[in-house]
Amino acid sequence: MKKLLASILSLGLAVTLAGCGGTGGKKSDSAASNKQLIGVAMPTQSLQRWNQDGANMKSELESKGYKVELQYANNDVNTQTQQLENMITKGCKVLVIASIDGSALSDVLKKAADNGVKVVAYDRLIMKSPNVDYYATFDNFKVGVIQGQYIEKQLGLKDGKGPFNIELFGGSPDDNNATFFYNGAMSILQPYIDNGKLVVSSGQKDFTTIAIQGWDSAKAQARMDNLITANYAKGKKLDAVLSPNDSLAIGIVASLKNAGYGSADKPYPILTGQDCDKPNVIAMINKQQSMSIFKDTRTLATKVVEMVDSLLQGKEASVNDTKTYNNGSKVVPSFLCDPVYADSSNYKQILIDSGYYKEADLK
Ligand code: BGC
Repeated sequence: MKKLLASILSLGLAVTLAGCGGTGGKKSDSAASNKQLIGVAMPTQSLQRWNQDGANMKSELESKGYKVELQYANNDVNTQTQQLENMITKGCKVLVIASIDGSALSDVLKKAADNGVKVVAYDRLIMKSPNVDYYATFDNFKVGVIQGQYIEKQLGLKDGKGPFNIELFGGSPDDNNATFFYNGAMSILQPYIDNGKLVVSSGQKDFTTIAIQGWDSAKAQARMDNLITANYAKGKKLDAVLSPNDSLAIGIVASLKNAGYGSADKPYPILTGQDCDKPNVIAMINKQQSMSIFKDTRTLATKVVEMVDSLLQGKEASVNDTKTYNNGSKVVPSFLCDPVYADSSNYKQILIDSGYYKEADLK
């Protein structure tokens, strides 16, 4: 962990913030002089991306003169709620929250509002609460579209090739992002399922059936095991698997490997992912996973720090979407950063040249 944090910090923040149009780096005088406390609540340390998100947020906020209370909640909703209550009690002026269950925070956010504490939803929308000031994320629908397009291209579906066998996975149902990823991917894949060029042999297609609670790798592995046993025995091969993110992809690769994929006559299927976590980039280099959406957490952190600054200065933050993210209580003004994909052909340029990873991280 220490090594990871050190390498993240050493990355510096000098990278071009193209995706989010951030300004980065400039000290906010009011914050610097007051040393205002900002709470940053992250869901878990078990996935690399959230460690990076937390570390980036902390260092960016501190470089602007804020004090930071950073907490991880081990993917436990009650722990996260308690952490948020403590942050309010300690006098945090803004809470930056990557929620675990997007619908479970209404009470604690009411308490925040009663205490004049502002709230920024980080990466995941917080649902069913009017007390969310801004939302910063990557364009979640587009994430799914890029995954769907990758499968479309690699299989040559546009050229009329097929039929191919595919299985579909969805993210955690309590995460609002998960349906956006699914809907984005299906906007590309559904027409090929309808015309028979993509065949989902299990018949499991709707989001609730394919969703993996808690984005859990082991659950994804178990589901892939069951799908293979029930549908891909006797020489029938899988050509593609839609996985919304890297934690599921890791479990899916493990299952495929156990089932004998990875040989010359039984290559791994096209397999998507998201986050460019190190083990997954290594899996891409080893041709076990085909691609992963790259969401540069540095650009997201910079955008969120801008929102924090604006909230504390009573100014409006710059947003680029005021329509899409209705949390059931209001449409939350949002800033959507641009996702891109990395695969074995471009990862050096996307991940190493940008300073996100060092070549040695990927061994
Ligand atoms: C994030 C993904 C992440 C997933 C699991 C989603 O809300 O947008 O980047 O892979 O959660 O942590």
